[in-house]
Amino acid sequence: MVALTGASAGIGRAAALAFAREGSRLGLAARRLGRLEEVAAEVRALGADALAMELDVADERAVGRFVAAVVERFGRLDVIVNNAGSGVRGSVEETPVEDFRRLMEVNYLGTVHGCRAALPVMRRQGRGVIINVSSIVGHRALAGGAAYAATKAAQISLTESLRLELRGTAIAACSVHPVSTETEFAEVAARASAGRKGGPVGPMQSADAVARAIVACARRPRAEVYPYPLARSIVWLNALSPRLVDWLASRAIPTKTG
Ligand SMILES: NC(=O)c1ccc[n+]([C@@H]2O[C@H](COP(=O)([O-])OP(=O)(O)OC[C@H]3O[C@@H](n4cnc5c(N)ncnc54)[C@H](OP(=O)(O)O)[C@@H]3O)[C@@H](O)[C@H]2O)c1
Repeated sequence: MVALTGASAGIGRAAALAFAREGSRLGLAARRLGRLEEVAAEVRALGADALAMELDVADERAVGRFVAAVVERFGRLDVIVNNAGSGVRGSVEETPVEDFRRLMEVNYLGTVHGCRAALPVMRRQGRGVIINVSSIVGHRALAGGAAYAATKAAQISLTESLRLELRGTAIAACSVHPVSTETEFAEVAARASAGRKGGPVGPMQSADAVARAIVACARRPRAEVYPYPLARSIVWLNALSPRLVDWLASRAIPTKTG
C-alpha cells in the first residue's frame, strides 16, 4: 500500500501508474482534485484500488489526515513517496524572500510532514519505506535556482538523519535525485517566477524513467537513487573539485540571470 503526494501530474502521476501496474493500492494527494481523480481513474483502469485526497503538503494537519485516511482504507502503509514540489527561477538577489519561504514550506516541510505522519504507522507495523523525491541540484546547485535547490538539499539532510535514526529497524529512508525531467515542472516554475530567468540545463529524462526508479526503490530500498545514472558522477566530481563543477556549470548556464 503506497501513499504518494504530488500525484496529479508529472513524476507523481507516472509513479502512481507504475505502482498500479505492479498491483499496489494507492493513496494519491495533490491540490487539484480534478486532475487527481483522473489519475485515480487511470489507476483503477489498471486494476488497482485508489483513494484521492485534495491537500496542500505545507499543511501538516492535512498530510496527517491523508496518511490516516490511507491507513483506515487499506489497513496499512508500506511505502510513502514524498514527491509533491515545485520550483521558482531567479538569482538569490532578485528572488523575493517570500518565494524562498513558500518553497521551503512545500518542498521541505511538506516532506517533513509526510515523514512524521508515516513514521508512527511504520513503527507500529515494524516496517515500511520512505522515499523522498529530491533532485540532483540538492547535491550540486546551479545559478538561477537557489531557492529551489536549497529545499532539495534540505530533503537530503532530512533523509540522512532519518536513515541513521531508523538503523536497526526494518524502516528504510531513501532519497531520489532526478536530473531535468519532462513534466509540467519547468512551466509551473516559469509561471511563478515573474519573468526571472534560470531553469533546466543538462540532460533530460522521462517521468516514466524516474517512476520506474521509484518503484524499484520501494521494492529494494537504496539510500540514494539516481534515475539518470551519470548524475552520480556529478556528486563525486563536486566532492573532489567544486571549482571544476562551477566552471562546467558556468558554461551550461549563464551565472548572471535577468
Ligand atoms: N521535473 C524536473 O525537472 C525535476 C527534476 C528533479 C526533481 N524533481 C522533483 O520531482 C517532484 C515532482 O515534480 P514534477 O517534475 O513531477 O513536477 P510537476 O509535473 O509540476 O508535478 C508536481 C506535482 O506536485 C504537486 N504539488 C505541487 N505543490 C503542491 C502542494 N503545495 N501540495 C500538494 N501537492 C503539490 C502538483 O499537484 P497540484 O498542482 O495539483 O497540487 C503535482 O502533482 C518535485 O519534488 C520536484 O522537485 C523534478
